[in-house]
Amino acid sequence: MGRLNINQKTAEALISFKNVSKSFGATKALINCNIDFKMGEIHSLVGENGAGKSTLGKIILGAYKLDSGQMLIEGKESQINSPVQSVNLGLVGISQELSLLPSRTVVDNIAMGRELTSGFFVSSKKTKEKVLSVMNRFNLFLNPDSIVGSLSVAEQQKVEILRALNSNARLIVFDEPTARLASNETEQLHFLVNSLAKTGTTIIYISHFLEEVLSISDRISLLRNGQLIRTNIAKKETKKSLIEGMTGKEEGNLFPKIKPVSKNSETILQVSNLTRKNEFEKISFEIKRGEIVGLSGLVGSGRSELALTIFGDKKPDKGKINFYGKEIKNNSINKSIDMGIAMVPESRRTQGLILARSLIENISLPYLKKFSSIYGVNKKKEKVDVIEACNKTTVKHNGVDFEVQYLSGGNQQKILFAKAAMGKPRLLIADEPTRGVDIGAKKSIYELIAKLSDVGESVLLISSEIEEIIGMSNRVLVMSRGKLSAELEGSAINKKTIMEATFKN
Ligand SMILES: Nc1ncnc2c1ncn2[C@@H]1O[C@H](COP(=O)(O)OP(=O)(O)OP(=O)(O)O)[C@@H](O)[C@H]1O
Ligand SMILES: [Mg+2]
Repeated sequence: MGRLNINQKTAEALISFKNVSKSFGATKALINCNIDFKMGEIHSLVGENGAGKSTLGKIILGAYKLDSGQMLIEGKESQINSPVQSVNLGLVGISQELSLLPSRTVVDNIAMGRELTSGFFVSSKKTKEKVLSVMNRFNLFLNPDSIVGSLSVAEQQKVEILRALNSNARLIVFDEPTARLASNETEQLHFLVNSLAKTGTTIIYISHFLEEVLSISDRISLLRNGQLIRTNIAKKETKKSLIEGMTGKEEGNLFPKIKPVSKNSETILQVSNLTRKNEFEKISFEIKRGEIVGLSGLVGSGRSELALTIFGDKKPDKGKINFYGKEIKNNSINKSIDMGIAMVPESRRTQGLILARSLIENISLPYLKKFSSIYGVNKKKEKVDVIEACNKTTVKHNGVDFEVQYLSGGNQQKILFAKAAMGKPRLLIADEPTRGVDIGAKKSIYELIAKLSDVGESVLLISSEIEEIIGMSNRVLVMSRGKLSAELEGSAINKKTIMEATFKN
């Protein structure tokens, strides 16, 4: 599906970039790029974090202006000066970071800026009908009256997609659309993308999931440090060729060796009968010193809520949490951090980062005590430690004094990991720590996790990527509908057993 047939192969380009360059200060985000997006094709962009993928998309969507070169629309040079102008030309996108109004309803968000007027006034009835018809047409349903802020991250992603579909788009940029979706939702999205392309919509698809890119695309363009390495037919690429093209290096082993944990290793975390109404029920498990425990399950199975409760961000209704032999009563984030528990949260926008603050402020925020004495904060030591943390997690930046908002999406994710790992926690809870990071950085994060466990720190690793769970865990827990559906060890840790437990009722 979605594949170009012979006639379409010669299809006209809807958008062409001719020698396009774009810089931000000293950063060259795009350098002399020549690239065509043909009508009705699914054209993926791949490249490491900071390679320039989102920048390219944002130029088409009118969010950034190019510095030099030209952008042609159907062969004619066009200047796009604003996002509104792009939308009017049928060029729309869903962004890497959610950009919704959390206090408004689903309908409001989908129709934002595109409300139907009835005479002089915006007609909410007509607008709602239009939104419902879009949901019907694309088989993507959500309660139109729900408040967006109360929805799960995956549902919010759907709102973004529906917003893009609610205009007569000729081109849609999907910037990492599946990073927040569960596997069944990903399939649904692929189906949707294919059917859009079949009806002639051009799709620009940005993703770090290379298997996904290979199966969905007609053509793939590889970017490295702002330069186009090549554009090729997807069938002629493999995972290996893409990794080599992106990184300039050969594909190595992604996962480090994970040491087994001794049976007599002490239990550091003991969770008994932990319950939060409508979220999770009677959860009991242990983590040993130095152990990496994988927590698998669908988005919405209660994984993240359980993690946030252990971390002290949510209060349990029932049950107990023991950490290093002490019961944590009246849990709170501050208490957890003091006891040596750190967390990489699921959503970097809402839970993790202060975008208008510098890297240094974001990373050292929870550890100010460590750098403080009666003489104030030791700025020098703070900076050295932060730079080291950034290096370890391969953050690409122009200086730790710059604001986090100027980093690419994947580099922001690495900051979250750096921040959590820097305090040398006794227990690290990592909720989707590699979401949106490129393959090289994934490897570094895995190595860091393995090193933490080597020195006796324990890790609870939550992930939707089964390969990551299998490759990194000493033991695996699976959640389904708020309950623990399996606890797996040794050879029992495999794709089949995890999948079965994932869908258990
Ligand atoms: N508004 C901005 N101000 C300053 N620098 C920026 C801005 N937007 C992007 N950059 C920089 O331009 C480079 C390319 O960023 P871009 O967001 O296009 O990367 P990307 O390929 O989408 O990466 P990722 O996979 O992490 O999302 C990065 O070095 C980034 O820090
Ligand atoms: Mg990006």
